Amino acid sequence: MSSTALLIKDLVEKHGKNRNSLMPILQGIVQEERYLSEDAMINVAKELDLSTADVYGTASFYTFLDTVPRGKNIIRICKTISCHMKGKDEIIETVENMLKVKVGETSHDRNFTLLTANCLGWCHQGPVMLINDDIYPDLNPGKATSILEEYMKAH
Ligand code: FES
Repeated sequence: MSSTALLIKDLVEKHGKNRNSLMPILQGIVQEERYLSEDAMINVAKELDLSTADVYGTASFYTFLDTVPRGKNIIRICKTISCHMKGKDEIIETVENMLKVKVGETSHDRNFTLLTANCLGWCHQGPVMLINDDIYPDLNPGKATSILEEYMKAH
């Protein structure tokens, strides 16, 4: 049995074999494997006796359940109005230039994926970015550069 199949079995055991477990199970897979493969979705559908369309639908509705392979670090820059007005475009540009990727892409070394996000709840301290689970508020291009350099050094 593949490691994904085993993981799904564990998650089903943990959360229960019913429809309400779908979200926690999908989240559990993303947590472990960093994305949701087609195989994983088919497998979950089988385990929970749901249609694959149902599982796909849920996964694509919740955009944070990534369905394509992502980098080790996920950067999400807020694109909503307050952050937009405080210069999020410059931050995006800075990060794009540093990582040589465009929004939605993953760096060649698979260390970073750059995404945008809707309001992260830090509007009073925008522009903000989230790297994995860490929030970085009050950004300017210089600050974003040093934060990213730290991550690049660490990997
Ligand atoms: S608008 Fe960016 S955090 Fe709210």
